[in-house]
Amino acid sequence: MQGFEIRDAALAVENVPLATIADQVGTPVYVYSAGAIRARYRALADALAPHGATIHYAVKANSNQAVIALLRELGAGADVVSGGELARALAAGVPADRIVFAGVGKTRDEMAAAIDAGIHLFNIESEPELETLAEVARSKGATARVGLRVNPDVDARTHAKITTGKAENKFGVPIERAPAFFARAAAMEGVEAVGLSAHIGSQLLDLAPYRQTYVRLREMALALRAEGYGLRLLDLGGGLGIGYHGEAGPDPRALAAIIGEELGHLDVQLAVEPGRWLVGAAGALLSRVILVKHGVTKRHVVVDAAMNDLIRPTLYEGYHRIEPVAGRDRPDAGPADVVGPICESGDYLAKDRPLPAVAAGELLAVRDAGAYGAVMASTYNSRPLVPEVLVDGDRWAVVRPRQDLSAMIGLDRVPDWIGG
Ligand code: LLP
Repeated sequence: MQGFEIRDAALAVENVPLATIADQVGTPVYVYSAGAIRARYRALADALAPHGATIHYAVKANSNQAVIALLRELGAGADVVSGGELARALAAGVPADRIVFAGVGKTRDEMAAAIDAGIHLFNIESEPELETLAEVARSKGATARVGLRVNPDVDARTHAKITTGKAENKFGVPIERAPAFFARAAAMEGVEAVGLSAHIGSQLLDLAPYRQTYVRLREMALALRAEGYGLRLLDLGGGLGIGYHGEAGPDPRALAAIIGEELGHLDVQLAVEPGRWLVGAAGALLSRVILVKHGVTKRHVVVDAAMNDLIRPTLYEGYHRIEPVAGRDRPDAGPADVVGPICESGDYLAKDRPLPAVAAGELLAVRDAGAYGAVMASTYNSRPLVPEVLVDGDRWAVVRPRQDLSAMIGLDRVPDWIGG
């Protein structure tokens, strides 16, 4: 099973019609294909196998326990960026020694929790962070393994909000400062600098920036070794993009070939941190049309999913295919804006999108929403978080129920000095 397919002229996930899920769980709902996630993981693992690289799933892309556990079952470790993600990865059974912890602003509490858990690696992004980690580790009589996240000053040529490897970005330490950083770490108790890491951005469709980054990493790794540092690990980050227009997108074998050419002879443990590539295409946001409005210049298809459920279109100009679940052979009726009910003009899922004439009540699937969909949702306009469903062949399960409205409101407290 590879995910989304047409069955009996309607869109299904593996063997389960999307209409069945919508009828039983309601809409909006995120639906994921376990088979598609497995296929992606295996393709990546096979491509990387000759280089012995470990895979640390970037749980920020989709941190549902079922999704993390599914990938853990296949052998994935985890890349986490907060104490919350660390707790999620551990709760889903990811062994601590396969967890790497990145992020520019780890707090002392988060560091302490990760040291207590015994994680594999801290990717450290600044000198002050190194000092703090060393202090926290010393207070526990521990030694934390550190990879230095370097900023290679490479343009990933992706959207400005998801580019991380340019000198002006907040991420990492300028690569030329790595020797001073290693010298500082070597003089400290509580930390052991074992490697370098780099993550230059997300949704990379062009692999050339990876090669540029690897060349810089290799040069710095060799320079550090020449100075006598025991460099044994390179974490290459994530970022591999997917084809949001339905095209194949970059092939992990092409990335693996570049890894082999540029880093294959270094005798280091290689690691990668993919998120989107593993889960993005394996998910859809299923939504129902509330009504269709014809304005002076536009057709607005108002659906029950909104920017709070999927923020990518409005935040990153992200393109997601939108397809009717049934009646797929209808002719195009011209461009439409597919919009949610939220009181903002930025609340859209698609702009000027060719669509057939759609009717109130029918189902639309917003494709490639498995990554950075549910995890970025909010309750804006007091809209409860939507449920998530995982399909595996004929089986399916609600892996997160719809948030209960009264439980959501019940989180608030009215202080007793407000009368009434
Ligand atoms: N490693 C690090 C250190 C990261 O910061 C990220 C993503 C990843 C790995 C995984 O990247 P991926 O393989 O998924 O591209 N919300 C945005 C994407 C933000 C990515 C942030 N960092 C979006 O919806 O496009």
